Amino acid sequence: MPVPSRRAWLKTMLAGVAGALAGGVAAVRSATSASAADSASTAASAAAARAARGTKLEHAPFRPGMPVGARPYGLPAEAQQHVVRRWLKWMLPSRLTNASFTPLAELEGIITPNGLVFERHHAGVPAIDPARFSLAVHGLVERPLALSLDDLKRLPSVSRIHFLECAGNNSLNWQRPAVNAVQFTHGLLSCCEWTGVPLMEVLRLCGVSDRAQWLLAEGADGAAYARSVPRALWDEAIIAFAQNGEALRPEQGFPLRLIVPGTEGSLNVKWLHRLKTGDEPWLTREETARYADLQDDGRARLFTLVQEVNSVITLPCPEKPLKGHGRQRLSGIAWSGHGRIAAVDVSFDGGVNWQPARLEEPVLPKCLTRFSLPFEWKGEELLLQSRAVDEKGNVQPTHDEMLKVKSARQVYHNNAITTWRVLNSGEVRHVRLA
Ligand code: CO
Repeated sequence: MPVPSRRAWLKTMLAGVAGALAGGVAAVRSATSASAADSASTAASAAAARAARGTKLEHAPFRPGMPVGARPYGLPAEAQQHVVRRWLKWMLPSRLTNASFTPLAELEGIITPNGLVFERHHAGVPAIDPARFSLAVHGLVERPLALSLDDLKRLPSVSRIHFLECAGNNSLNWQRPAVNAVQFTHGLLSCCEWTGVPLMEVLRLCGVSDRAQWLLAEGADGAAYARSVPRALWDEAIIAFAQNGEALRPEQGFPLRLIVPGTEGSLNVKWLHRLKTGDEPWLTREETARYADLQDDGRARLFTLVQEVNSVITLPCPEKPLKGHGRQRLSGIAWSGHGRIAAVDVSFDGGVNWQPARLEEPVLPKCLTRFSLPFEWKGEELLLQSRAVDEKGNVQPTHDEMLKVKSARQVYHNNAITTWRVLNSGEVRHVRLA
């Protein structure tokens, strides 16, 4: 929201005071200066003048504040302390192999701050000494190599903004809406600028063989977590050492992780210390017993790697109810592992009627895209839905449409349209329409 000029703000305040005096009524309200400023941004409207009437400009006494350097590494404002990752005790049996969720309702734009990027670990976060760390590259190559971090950082690097989404995002809601918070429906999703060396730079340095069709990426964590990456995904892959301008966080793979844009988070191996090229996949535990899609006949689909077109409304949502009637801002995020978001439509009546939302810049491939739509609310019940379309023409399905091509026994890859029921009170509930 634009900050009103001091002059405009004062004008509204004075109009409000004058109105209160003229009416002989001084309704004392304990509004904060922030809500007064909000009202001033629509100074022309009578509603704003009413809201400002009787408000007092309250602020801390003018005096020196925190000195420079008091926090060598900056922290969010005290009022933002509720904006944190959260995890669900009942979701998985151990804290060492578990996940924490990004607070999507609290974020603006498309970038996830590093401290809020979701976590998914299979044996906790290893402590790695970067001075003793190396990346081994071997297999079907002419020259096997062990690269130190310094070696790697001497190679040409790139920076790209991509979303990262766990294949299990929204998996708690396959059968029925089980969690009533966007943090827990869609919070295994983050978006960062990733900086690192293109995978192909390293593979060319090693003289990778034409016969190599698969790449094993192994992490240095306690699970020796490893995945097979098909050659079709190598060109865009990055061996990342930084996220959002600083070194990777330990829980994001410090010092190195593989970024394979648009693919399920589990393919983006953290604490990456070994790459091996070969002519067939390794069929590791994490791509057979896990991260495979169980079908109705008991067989499993393997290597369903690309995250499909998806979207969710983050305002309003269960954590962000509507407050007061009148003009509202609806906002959300859309993404697709197949490329750019082309359009997002929003329904207020559970998918009967749709209207296009505005896509906010930037709109980048395999990246979160922010959408928004203003609307008027008079207190009626709403069934809010968003439906994303990507540049390849993929359309986000309803739950029923999705079940025509996916098994209800699946755990992963739920990209169905989510419904938020807005009650007359403004509260928001996660529901599924029959
Ligand atoms: Co998959």
